[in-house]
Amino acid sequence: MAEFQLPPDSRVKKGKSFKAPVGATNVRRFMIYRYDPDSGNNPRLDTYEVDMDSCGPMVLDALIKIKNEVDPTLTFRRSCREGICGSCAMNIAGGNTLACTHATHDIKGNVKIYPLPHMPVVKDLVPDLTNFYAQYASIKPWLQTRTPAPPDQERLQSKEDQEKINSPSACILCACCSTSCPSYWWNSDRYLGPAALLASYRWLVDTRDEATGERLDDLEDPFRIYRCHTIMNCTNACPKDLNPAKAIAETKQMLAARRL
Ligand code: SF4
Ligand code: SF4
Ligand code: FES
Repeated sequence: MAEFQLPPDSRVKKGKSFKAPVGATNVRRFMIYRYDPDSGNNPRLDTYEVDMDSCGPMVLDALIKIKNEVDPTLTFRRSCREGICGSCAMNIAGGNTLACTHATHDIKGNVKIYPLPHMPVVKDLVPDLTNFYAQYASIKPWLQTRTPAPPDQERLQSKEDQEKINSPSACILCACCSTSCPSYWWNSDRYLGPAALLASYRWLVDTRDEATGERLDDLEDPFRIYRCHTIMNCTNACPKDLNPAKAIAETKQMLAARRL
């Protein structure tokens, strides 16, 4: 869970309130960002009281309960419910994280939920990730080779070489990191952001890949990587405990080494 805090968005006015069922004794209050760009209305924060005695422990459990039992118009993404697919990433209590792995009891006071920051909103808690995915695709996230594969076996790696890619391969593309990065907030049209740069690093350090020079050439640009100022928000935000900031720093070292 991220340690940084986003400033509360005082422009978002309070909207509807939904009370807990009569007799509920273990009530938590969820304040959730609601916005439908097609409606022409301004965003609002709706308040839902949830009886935690009949709700699972994670924030996603509460969202699903609200959608199923109180307000079917509430819109959010989710799939795996176990921190694997990355689709339930959102801003919870001021930090970007996964709703399915973040326990409500770890949050003090009202549970404020916004979409991932500084992204266009499709509806409610669903950000438009078109640019984010296009940036991922732009780093060519697949093995590129020039030499033919061995005729009778796969392209093998040593255990040590495999370990270099284990951690960056574990990225679930949730976008918690990139949407916590101030450089990405202001330059997401030209700066690739930590998620795409971690993916780029994963292929740069893969000893089977034979396009290292071209991959580094593609990063030689004032914006694509050099907008990273090592603020570390990305690493603090990652719900999978990955370290995109370190990967970016090592990639910059690879670029610098070519100039020596
Ligand atoms: S270390 Fe770089 S990528 Fe990570 S938050 Fe800071 S500026 Fe963004
Ligand atoms: S590096 Fe972490 S925060 Fe960033 S997209 Fe991958 S899993 Fe999500
Ligand atoms: S629902 Fe898949 S990561 Fe949360």
